[in-house]
Amino acid sequence: MGAETRRKSRGRTGGSTLSGRGLRKSYGDFEAVKGVDFEVYAGECFGFLGPNGAGKTSTMKMIYAAAVPTGGELSVVGLDVIRHDREVKRRIGVVPQENNLDEGLKVRENLLVYGRYFDLPRKLVLQRADELLDFVQLTEKAEAKVESLSGGMKRRLLIARALVNDPDLVVLDEPTTGLDPQARHLVWDKLRELAREGKTLILTTHYMEEAARLCDRLVIMEGGDIIARGSPGELVREHVSPQVLEFRSDPASLTALRPILEEAADSVEEGGSVEALLAFTRDADAIMERVRESGIKVENIVHRGSGLEDVFMRLTGRRLAD
Ligand SMILES: Nc1ncnc2c1ncn2[C@@H]1O[C@H](COP(=O)(O)OP(=O)(O)O)[C@@H](O)[C@H]1O
Ligand SMILES: [Mg+2]
Repeated sequence: MGAETRRKSRGRTGGSTLSGRGLRKSYGDFEAVKGVDFEVYAGECFGFLGPNGAGKTSTMKMIYAAAVPTGGELSVVGLDVIRHDREVKRRIGVVPQENNLDEGLKVRENLLVYGRYFDLPRKLVLQRADELLDFVQLTEKAEAKVESLSGGMKRRLLIARALVNDPDLVVLDEPTTGLDPQARHLVWDKLRELAREGKTLILTTHYMEEAARLCDRLVIMEGGDIIARGSPGELVREHVSPQVLEFRSDPASLTALRPILEEAADSVEEGGSVEALLAFTRDADAIMERVRESGIKVENIVHRGSGLEDVFMRLTGRRLAD
């Protein structure tokens, strides 16, 4: 079974657990979220992608009842968030964008103190704390002060803390930003385990690789609007051709190459900070043939499949020619 089939079979079984309709958030005159619609099914991992300032955190805060919507409807675990904010808070787990652990407390203490907010029996909280420390691989750090932990450990502790009340729905705002690759992979493993257990995960990220690996479906936000939605595979198929040829060379050669690529490829884009042209196509061989015929000097060519990052750059980044 392919990743996408597996994903589909996991989602959409338990009905809708999160739904936003025309959801808005303004700060004074400034509208950070401009009336967005989304629906998340129980057991899905659902992503909110977008550049900084897109409105992701504002949306997350409304979902976890830390900010009041200025318009629209929002239901979380089947409850209207505005009328039932306290119940929603009890039923979900939250990993906020900014670490708000109690740095002066020890690792296990952070979980115990948090457990008290939920009026859980002390014995149960003690048992869960140990299970969760084991889950996020922090058992050895149980008695360490939070301030002594690495960034990756703190993020794992935040994830453990979000699970103290055994929520069905966990909201994670940029769970891996700022982590090194090892720490990031460990967090991904933990999130996949949670998804396998059937938890619904809502996460924001600006890492396309993260979204492609974890999310069953996602929306891309920009400037307070949702500008695209679908599974990672659907978004790639819908917005970009399946293959990419990246050409690198000196500026004069690239200038000469551009019209040839524009004629032969489905679309051409400038490639990021490096001097490069990206040709999107279904037939890389045909393009290579044309480039060879032209005799233009190309220093380096990379042939790869297109991905979510290409979709993201196309929709939110620079455009050269379509
Ligand atoms: N409390 C606030 N007061 C005023 N403006 C805010 C506040 N919070 C966020 N914003 C603005 O709203 C926009 C969206 O922010 P945010 O939701 O944090 O986006 P993201 O998480 O996608 O980076 C940004 O322009 C940000 O500056
Ligand atoms: Mg944010």
